[in-house]
Parts: sequence; C-alpha cells; structure tokens
Amino acid sequence: MERLQKVIAQAGITSRRKAEQLIVDGKVKVNGKVVRKLGVKVTPNKDAIEVEGVPIDKEEPVYFLLYKPSGVISSVKDEKGRKVVTDFLEIQQRVFPVGRLDYDTSGLLLLTNDGEFANTLMHPKFKIEKVYVAKVKGIPSREKLKELQNGVKLEDGKTAPAKVKMMSMDKKKQTSIIRLTIHEGRNRQVRRMFDAIDHPVMKLKREEYSFLTLHGMNPGEVRPLKPIEVKHLRELAVTKPS
Ligand code: URA
Repeated sequence: MERLQKVIAQAGITSRRKAEQLIVDGKVKVNGKVVRKLGVKVTPNKDAIEVEGVPIDKEEPVYFLLYKPSGVISSVKDEKGRKVVTDFLEIQQRVFPVGRLDYDTSGLLLLTNDGEFANTLMHPKFKIEKVYVAKVKGIPSREKLKELQNGVKLEDGKTAPAKVKMMSMDKKKQTSIIRLTIHEGRNRQVRRMFDAIDHPVMKLKREEYSFLTLHGMNPGEVRPLKPIEVKHLRELAVTKPS
C-alpha cells in the first residue's frame, strides 16, 4: 500500500505536491469514487486510479521471449477458441506480441505490455534482422537462391536484399532446408518469397530476432528478457536508423 499522491506522482503525471492539490480539488477517483482526503493509501497494481477522468498507467512494463509452437495464433484471443500466444504466460499484465508469426510458423516471438517499445522495434526503418529456417519443396538452383538474395517481386513490391544459405538438401524426398535472413516484416513474407521462386514452404521457424536466439528452449517455453537484453534492443532501435 502506498500513499495516493505518491502513486500519482510516480506515474509521471505531476509532482507530488500538485498531486495533493488535485486530490483536495476532488479531481482524483479511486475505484470510481472521488477521494479528497490526503492520507489515503492504495495498492498501485490493483486499485483503479483516475486523475481528471484519465486512468493512470498502472502496469509495470514486462518483456518476454516465447518459443511459439506451430498451431498457435499470434494474438491475445481467438474467437474460435484456438490456442493463442498469451496462453503460455501466467501473469497478470496484459501483454501482446511484437509483430506476428503465422499460425503454422514456430519460433521466436517477443511479448510485452510496453506499446512504445513494441512499435519502435516493429518500425521498418530500424531494420531489425530476423533469421528464418524454412523447409521447402524441391531443391532451388543457385540462380533461384540468388533471386531471393537480390529481392523478389511480390504484390506489395520488391523485397529488400536478404541473406540466403542452403543448409541441407534431401535429393530423394526433394526437399531443402534454407536459412533466410530478412529485416522487413511484411505479412507472410517468407512464404511469399519462396512461392515467388516456385519452392513453397513446407515448414517455417524463426530462429533469431536480432541478437536473441532460441538456444536451450523448447516449443511452448517462455522466459523473461534480461534487463540488459531490453536495454540492448532499445539501443538498436535508437542507433540504427537508415
Ligand atoms: N514470414 C512468413 O511467411 N511467416 C511468418 O510467420 C513470418 C515471416
């Protein structure tokens, strides 16, 4: 429990002294009721506090890395009752995914309740690299891989240059495993890129997001990001504009 004026001041709205004035003036509500007394104590993440009709931001920012299994929606709820990415977290905060992975795609997905952080990372100008490993139909020729590398024409424009590496091929089954590094984040981009060279994706996994990897994790596992990782991600987004 903390003093109401302190909680208001800590939310960055105003100074503690001005918060006291707002309370005395009847401009602060706790759980829907006006509070004019100064000694009132509240529980920051539980009590609903409004200052001049505006709820104060109550939640601590939280950051998680999820190894999304395939067969899960990159959303916080699904009308059809399918599994969603937030089902893997048992926390009170309302987090949402930073970007999305397709229902059938597995791999690294960040979750946070920090909207500004998420929007910054998703902004194309910061060119955050994402590494995908795709199992595709057939065995693409060198020329086709070069096309992927240089950029292929999609409905929404040519893709930016990418890094492409053939990891392995199965001549009998006529499949290949290819590692593709891109920094754009268009809808179903990797699948559309492989469609464009006539080697459709059979299986897709995002293995890396900038310096973050899935090492040591299994599908469905989640871990909080370390403060140093959050800091590093913020720095990437500040220092790498094009
Ligand atoms: N590209 C895709 O095609 N699908 C994903 O889930 C992510 C990138």
